[in-house]
Amino acid sequence: MRKKVTKAIFPVAGLGTRFLPATKSVPKEIMTLVDRPLVQYAIDEARAAGITEFIFVTSRGKNALEDYFDHAPMLEQELQKKGKDDLLATLKSTYMDSGAIAYIRQHRALGLGHAVWCARRLISSDEPFAVILPDDVIAAEKPCLQQMVEAHAETGGNMVAAMEVPAEKTSSYGVLDVAEDMGSVVSVKGMVEKPKPEDAPSNLAVIGRYILTPSILRNLDRMKKGAGDEFQLTDAIADDIRAGKPVYGYRFDGQRFDCGSKAGFLQATVAFALARDDLRDDLSAYLQEMVQLDKAAQ
Ligand code: G1P
Repeated sequence: MRKKVTKAIFPVAGLGTRFLPATKSVPKEIMTLVDRPLVQYAIDEARAAGITEFIFVTSRGKNALEDYFDHAPMLEQELQKKGKDDLLATLKSTYMDSGAIAYIRQHRALGLGHAVWCARRLISSDEPFAVILPDDVIAAEKPCLQQMVEAHAETGGNMVAAMEVPAEKTSSYGVLDVAEDMGSVVSVKGMVEKPKPEDAPSNLAVIGRYILTPSILRNLDRMKKGAGDEFQLTDAIADDIRAGKPVYGYRFDGQRFDCGSKAGFLQATVAFALARDDLRDDLSAYLQEMVQLDKAAQ
């Protein structure tokens, strides 16, 4: 029997400089899509996939994240008194059980591989674990990590979420060298971090969801710096391929938003607002009006 995936690592140590000045005092992961922080989407997705232990790799200035997951008895009492049951349920969806969440500091910004390695002592040597990058928000009927956990139950090995990107964009992603394309699942014979389009083995890019075997953490022990002069998770996974271990890409069903960029964040905001019964009509009327005004101005 394969071991279940019950732990997830959330690398959230980044400075979020693209969102300055907001990120001067608010961690990027607390910024909201409509009314929910980015990190809440990541947590909900992890829970849906059966994750029960949450490991955050943080850095200086991220205390608001710890507070966010704390219990809020005064607020709770207030909502109870006023009979605001909906809001009470919303509040409780942010709560974490005692001991279910751990925070590890990444003392220096040395890359995604290094951030994951910082959590190594919280993962046993025989259990697979997930990594979720909260910047990649994925709208899907069945949450992306849940799709992957189900596929992984069949394949085992290492698995990364994958998506076709325009050929000229490969230098923003880890890119897969595909051995065999089986539809949703592809087996992978190589991986390159942020290749120039002319050097990319394909246009099938890694998106921020991973199910990894503990051998990746051992590879990270020996890691050398890679692309961007950082320790890359992609390189540690590629090392497993070279050692003859299986790595799969998983083409998920769903729409991915790059919330690490302003345009992606705005698109996600509009998409999530349009999906809400309480906002759809007003917002869609407004957007149509804006488009017409824009056309008239041209
Ligand atoms: C990271 C990974 C990259 C992956 C990307 C997905 O890059 O290093 O392999 O394709 O996330 O969003 P980052 O966007 O942090 O530079």
